[in-house]
Amino acid sequence: MKPVLEVRDIHKSFGGIHAVRGVSFDVRPGEILGIIGPNGCGKSTLFNCILGQLPPSSGEVWLEGERVTGLRPSQLNRLGVSRTFQLLQVFPKLSVRENLILAGQEHRGSMLSRLLGPGDAGLTPDADKMIAFFKMQHLADERAGGLSFGQQKLLDAAMAFMAGPRLVLLDEPAGGVNLTMLGNLKERLKAINEEQGATFVVIEHNMDFVMSLCSRVVVLAEGKVLAIGTPADIRANQAVIDAYLGH
Ligand SMILES: Nc1ncnc2c1ncn2[C@@H]1O[C@H](COP(=O)(O)OP(=O)(O)O)[C@@H](O)[C@H]1O
Ligand SMILES: [Mg+2]
Repeated sequence: MKPVLEVRDIHKSFGGIHAVRGVSFDVRPGEILGIIGPNGCGKSTLFNCILGQLPPSSGEVWLEGERVTGLRPSQLNRLGVSRTFQLLQVFPKLSVRENLILAGQEHRGSMLSRLLGPGDAGLTPDADKMIAFFKMQHLADERAGGLSFGQQKLLDAAMAFMAGPRLVLLDEPAGGVNLTMLGNLKERLKAINEEQGATFVVIEHNMDFVMSLCSRVVVLAEGKVLAIGTPADIRANQAVIDAYLGH
């Protein structure tokens, strides 16, 4: 089957800092791919290069057989690629439902929704489905800013799945989330993958989270791919144990 995403030999330098040094991998339809690696190894920069937030210094990004290198984030959105950022992007003054509606409009990138202004653009039923899927019914009308941090992270993840994207990239969705919410988030991400066939890539520090959620894992070290494989492959990989798991 054709990969959903192919990342080919991406490099990114910031002045003298060579943050990403020739990273290649693909994402297969219906899989959850994990990306792990120590702080500063280039994970977020790689996402930014894939998503058009940053131009790669070299290399290519292909989406379902179409070269999309250098497209703007809004163009990629329209092609069905969405993301979360390492830091929360929810709108604190809007309700949970309004946040989801806004995310749906953003992903559609439709001029129509902008012309129609702040209406719901017909997205309320989709937002309510997402609320039910993420088990947030009791929070639907709450202001996002009033939710716990873990609930906000859950909302942030749910927003990325609005409008049925082809591919979602999640940057540390579990960062700073307590154990109960962590289990909740993992269960919901697994469910959206299994029940709705969502394909996504997740950067995460929490090793147990990645190992129990992902079908394959990419290990980055100093901007390079140290290993790619199933969680079992990665656990048994001597280079990974030496560089990362051994600590
Ligand atoms: N906009 C930027 N300008 C300069 N250096 C950056 C920028 N973004 C990231 N870096 C540097 O690139 C390296 C990789 O950072 P990052 O991709 O955030 O790592 P990670 O997400 O794996 O923690 C770090 O050395 C970081 O300081
Ligand atoms: Mg990061």
